[in-house]
Amino acid sequence: MRSYAKSIEYYERTRKSLAGGVSSNVRYAATPVPLFFERGEGARLFDVDGNVHIDYVLGNGPAILGHAPKPVIEAVAATLARGQVYAAQHPGETALAERLCRLLPGVEVVRFASSGTEAVLMAFRLARAFTGRTKILKFEGHYHGWSDQAFISARPALNEAGPADCPVPVAGSPGMPQSVLDDTVVAGWNDLDLLAAAFERHKGEIAAIIMEPVMVNGGPTPPKPGYLEGARALCREHGALFICDEVITGFRAGLRGAQGLYGVTADLTVYAKAVAAGFPLALVGGRRDVMDTLLDKGVMHGGTYNGNVQSMAAALAALDVLEADDGAVYRDLDARGTRLMRGLAALGAKHRVAVKVQGLPAIFQVYFTEGPAPTNYREAVACDRDKALAFHRALQEEGIRTNQNAKWFLSTAHDDAIIDETLAAAGRAMAAVA
Ligand SMILES: Cc1ncc(COP(=O)(O)O)c(C=O)c1O
Repeated sequence: MRSYAKSIEYYERTRKSLAGGVSSNVRYAATPVPLFFERGEGARLFDVDGNVHIDYVLGNGPAILGHAPKPVIEAVAATLARGQVYAAQHPGETALAERLCRLLPGVEVVRFASSGTEAVLMAFRLARAFTGRTKILKFEGHYHGWSDQAFISARPALNEAGPADCPVPVAGSPGMPQSVLDDTVVAGWNDLDLLAAAFERHKGEIAAIIMEPVMVNGGPTPPKPGYLEGARALCREHGALFICDEVITGFRAGLRGAQGLYGVTADLTVYAKAVAAGFPLALVGGRRDVMDTLLDKGVMHGGTYNGNVQSMAAALAALDVLEADDGAVYRDLDARGTRLMRGLAALGAKHRVAVKVQGLPAIFQVYFTEGPAPTNYREAVACDRDKALAFHRALQEEGIRTNQNAKWFLSTAHDDAIIDETLAAAGRAMAAVA
C-alpha cells in the first residue's frame, strides 16, 4: 500500500486556513484525501509522500504538452522581468490574436479572458445582446463552468431531472437564484428531434445554444453522425447562435478542436485549458458581426488579468509546438491514445470485466457496462460507477493517476514507454477489479 501520511497531515493543516482544504470543489474527490504534490515533470507528478504518479488528469486538461514543458516555461521565463499586467495592450496579444484567427474554424475575432467560466459568461452576454433574446439552451451533462448562469443540469440527479425528452433545469449548487433556471432551457444531447422540439416549445426565445461538441464532462461521448450539422442548421432556422464550448476539446481533439475534426463551424467558440499549456488563459472567438457588439452596442467585458504578458507568451510557445508541421504532434497523440484505449479494452476482455472505452484518443473514459457505449448523459450515468471508482483506486495504487470516473487525459509527454508501463499497471488494476 502506498503511504499518503504527509498528504493527510497537510490536508488536516490546510483545512484550518483554506476553506475545505482545497481551491476548487472538484478536488475534494481524491482518495484518501486531496493529495499534495511537490512537482510535475512531463507525464509524471511527484507527491509530498514521495509517490510518483503517471498523470492522466493533467490539471483536468490544460497540460497538453505534459507538466513544465520546456519551450513554454522558457518562453514565459523570458518575459517575467518585463512585467505581468499593464492594463494596456502589448504586442504579444496582437501576435496571439492574429495567430488564433488564422488557425481556428469560424474565428474572425477573439477576446481574451482568464478562465473558461468567465469566457462562457461573455459568450452568453454577446448572444443575448446580439439577438435581443434571453434564454440559453444547454444540454444535460454538459459543464460550462461554475457560474450561476451555466452550472445548471451539468450532473443532475436523475430523480430531479424530469423526463428525458423534456428535462427540468436543475441548479448545480445551493445559492443559485431561480431566475437563472427560468432563463435556461435544458435538452437531452445527441438527439436532433429533442433539440427541434425544444426550439418549438420556446419559439423566438432562445438567444443561443451551448454545447461541448464532444461531451466530455458528463462522460466522453462523440456526437452522432450528422448531429452537430443538424444542431447548426436548427440554430440558423430559429435565429439562435450556436456556441461551441471547446474548453476541453480545443487543441486536444486536434489542432483545430472538435470543429476541425467534425467540419462544423459555430458562431461563437470558447477555448481555454490546453491553449496555454497550463497557464491561465481563455478566449471567446467567432463571427465578427457578433463580436463587434462589444464595440457597437457597448457590451461590457472586463478582467484585470485578460491578455497578461505571461499567458500570451505561454500560448504562443505552445502553439509553436502544436502547430509545427500542421499539427504533427496530434498524429502521435492520436496513435498513442488509440493504442492505450484499445489496450484498456483488451484488458477488460482478458479479465472478463465488461468495459467500453470511449472518447477521443486524447480524452476518453473506461465505462464499466454490459451494454453499448453511452450516447448521452443519462446512459453515461447508468454505467457502473462503483467499478469505475474501484478501477481508479487500483490504478492509483499502481502509480497511475486518473480522474474518479476512470477518465483519462493524454499529453504529448506520454511516450510509447509510458503507455507500455501504464498498460502493464492497468492490467494488474483490472485484475483487482475482476
Ligand atoms: C467544457 C468546459 N467548459 C468550461 C469550463 C470552465 O472552465 P474553468 O474551469 O477554466 O473556469 C470547463 C472546466 O472544466 C469545461 O470543462
